[in-house]
This record gives sequence, structure tokens and C-alpha cells, in this order.
Amino acid sequence: LESDLLARIGAADTGAALEEVRVSALGKKGAVSEKMKTLGKMSPEERKEMGPALNGLKTRIAEAIETKKAELEAAALDARLASEKVDVTLPVRPEPKGKIHPVSQVTEEIIAIFSAMGFDVAEGPDIEDDFHNFTALNFPPDHPAREMHDTFFFEPKEDGQRMLLRTHTSPVQIRTMMTQKPPIRIIIPGRTFRCDSDQTHTPMFHQVEGLVIDKETHMGHLKGVLEAFVKTFFELDDVKTRFRPHFFPFTEPSAEMDVQYERVGNEVRFGQGEKWMEILGCGMVHPNVLKNCGLDPDEYQGFAFGVGVDRLAMLKYGIPDLRDFFTADARWLEHYGFDA
Ligand code: PHE
Repeated sequence: LESDLLARIGAADTGAALEEVRVSALGKKGAVSEKMKTLGKMSPEERKEMGPALNGLKTRIAEAIETKKAELEAAALDARLASEKVDVTLPVRPEPKGKIHPVSQVTEEIIAIFSAMGFDVAEGPDIEDDFHNFTALNFPPDHPAREMHDTFFFEPKEDGQRMLLRTHTSPVQIRTMMTQKPPIRIIIPGRTFRCDSDQTHTPMFHQVEGLVIDKETHMGHLKGVLEAFVKTFFELDDVKTRFRPHFFPFTEPSAEMDVQYERVGNEVRFGQGEKWMEILGCGMVHPNVLKNCGLDPDEYQGFAFGVGVDRLAMLKYGIPDLRDFFTADARWLEHYGFDA
């Protein structure tokens, strides 16, 4: 019996198989237990001999089962460790990495440059009212300049007011001047909207507005700040700029700033060449605008400017079509985007 049981224990290759052997040997009706029961019917002499023998058998079988059980558990653990082992020498799987959109990249670049000059960042709502987008900025009622902006209007409200998608970031000038005491030095990045679409225009685009209000601010400050900006932005030692007279209702005098450039093949090179490229609008804040915001033009003056972020991104990074900026094509972003 013993050798048979030991053989079966040795052959059990799972915990369940081993348990089956244990029950058949040591369980209530197991072979060893049945033998133990025969002790009661034996004569004292027989029992004296068989008692220790059977107890020894029971103990040896129990020990063999315990040993086998430990072996099986160790083997199971080994197998698990082997299957769950991390191979640290395995090269990482190439996960697709996201890219930073050129608009975000260039906005950050512009913010960094003006932050270094002491400007704070301000923001305002995309949905504006007529007052902040036009009236307070000195657009006369029914002035064609309002049409010039190709405004997206919402349906009129009950009170007859028509909300609109802001056509420029200039309304945030108003919001800032009405709530903050000068000196003011802010830049205002944001989305802007005009009903327009071709290779260099999209219905939604991005601007960064600048506003400085202080005592005795003049055109020289405007020119100095913008030239420093262009130099840093295009990473040029020297840059030739030109201020061309222009018209904006909210600045007087107003100008557009051009930067000298030349085209070499498909590439645009700044700081050299014979051609001029317009890159921003600017001017001294109109006295009416100051008054509309409760500031005394005899005490405070200031300048403002507005740059097209998308346009600067196209120029700096040689991106040909503005419409591609907003089609969410992952291959385009893979090509023109920036690593985080
Ligand atoms: N708001 C003007 C535009 O969108 C740009 C500008 C801003 C001009 C500030 C002058 C001063 O065209």
C-alpha cells in the first residue's frame, strides 16, 4: 500500500491531483484511515505491533504529501515568475508622439519675447458686443470700417443687441483700460474671426495684441519695442523695418510695419533683400479711445499693435497655405509641428 501511495503522490502533477490522492489515503474513507479503524478490533498484542506501524505509515504519507505540495507550489511560482518577467533589455515600442501646433508654438514665442520686456498677458472673450469690438474703439456708427472687418454676427437678442465673433483682439484693450489703472503693459493672444477664406486667410485666425499706456509714451517707444520684437522673433542681428502710414479708427497716427526680405527659391529670408513684407498694424492709441475708457488723454498716452500669429508662423517656418493650419491633418502636424 505504501509504495503504491508514494508512487501516486510522486505522479500527481497538479494541486488537485495531489488532493485527490490525499483524500483517497487519509480522508475519512481513505485507505490508510480504513486500516487505522481495524486497530480497534485487534488483540492488544496485535495492536501493540500494528499501532506504531500504521501511525508511521500515516505520518510518512502525510509528510510525502506536504513535500509534494511544497514542490508543486514552488514550481507554480517559478512558472509565474518566468512568464511575468520584464525584459528590461527590450527596446521601447515606438509610440506615436504628439506635436505642438505652429500656432501654439509661435504664440508662446511671442509671449516669451514680450514677457522678457515686462509685458503681462491678458485675455478676453471670443464672443463680443458691438461696444467693445467697434464703438469704444472709435468706429463711428455705420462707418464702412465695420464692414471692412467682414464680421460674423449672431442673431439679434430681444433687446436688439447683436453679439458678434470678435474681428480682432483690440476689444481686450478696452476691457483692460476700463478695469486697470495705468501704467499698462499687456499682450493679448487670442482667436479672431472674419468671413474670409483663401491661401492666406481663414475665417478663424490668431492675433497677439499689444497695449502700453503710461505718461509720456511716444512713437519712439512703439518703434523700439516692435523692432526689438522682430529682431528676436526672426533671430536676426540686424533688421530693416519701415513704418508706412495707415488707417485704424482706434490709433492716430497709425502705421503698418514692414520688414525687409528676399525670396530665395521657396524660402523667405528676412533682414536682407529689396522687398518689404507687412507684418503688423500699430499706432498711438486714439484720444477718443482713452476717453471712452475713462482715461484723460492729457495725462496718459500709449501705443498699440496687432500681429497676425498665423502669418508670422507661415513666414518663420515656411508654411505655404494657411488653410492647412486648421484641417487637423495629423501628417501635416507631424511635418510642421514642434517637439514638446
Ligand atoms: N486690430 C487691428 C487689426 O486687426 C490691428 C491693430 C491693433 C492696429 C492695434 C493698430 C493697433 O487689423
